[in-house]
Amino acid sequence: MLNIAVLVGSLRKESINKRYAHALEKLAEGRLAFDYVNMDLPLYNEDLWAEPPAKVLLLKEKIAAADGVLIVSPEYNRSMPAVTKNALDGGSRPYGQNVWADKPVALTGASPGSQGTAVMQSQVRSTLVILGMRVLGAPEVYISFKPDLLSDDDTVANEGTAKFLTGFLDAFTHWIKPGMA
Ligand SMILES: Cc1cc2nc3c(=O)[nH]c(=O)nc-3n(C[C@H](O)[C@H](O)[C@H](O)COP(=O)(O)O)c2cc1C
Repeated sequence: MLNIAVLVGSLRKESINKRYAHALEKLAEGRLAFDYVNMDLPLYNEDLWAEPPAKVLLLKEKIAAADGVLIVSPEYNRSMPAVTKNALDGGSRPYGQNVWADKPVALTGASPGSQGTAVMQSQVRSTLVILGMRVLGAPEVYISFKPDLLSDDDTVANEGTAKFLTGFLDAFTHWIKPGMA
């Protein structure tokens, strides 16, 4: 079983990205253990390191202990929400103590719009690369979220979509540990 630190870039109670992450967790059952990181962090400020916030230290601990990182993020104004960026920034510092370096990472996201977070993902990839992460290149997964995508218990309702998402999780597993998926 691989330990996956999951970053959901929305704090909203009814977040579709949170629901989508839960659906991925179900599809990954038995091989990927999802550990959701608390993303409700103080806004990044270099002065915080004088007395580091417990939540940021916990994020760094979870990432350090993880075999891989899964980012499930909304798209805000054709970019990543501050919640996602704030977590990436927090984990990258203090200077020289970037916790993201060398971590395998996969990125996806859901939006009610037709492009399904594609623009956000292309931007975030460049940030992940500069952080020194090992970014899964393919498949790209852009979810255009419609009400019938998930059942009430956040299971992927459509067989073809479930198969496609399982393929994404297979690729991520293989990216972390070749031969495991
Ligand atoms: C400030 C803001 C900007 C947004 N910009 C985009 C956007 O650029 N592209 C898009 O597809 N959806 C955009 N949306 C709509 C979000 O995709 C939608 O609110 C989605 O439900 C947010 O994800 P969540 O449900 O996980 O919180 C935006 C929403 C907000 C609040």
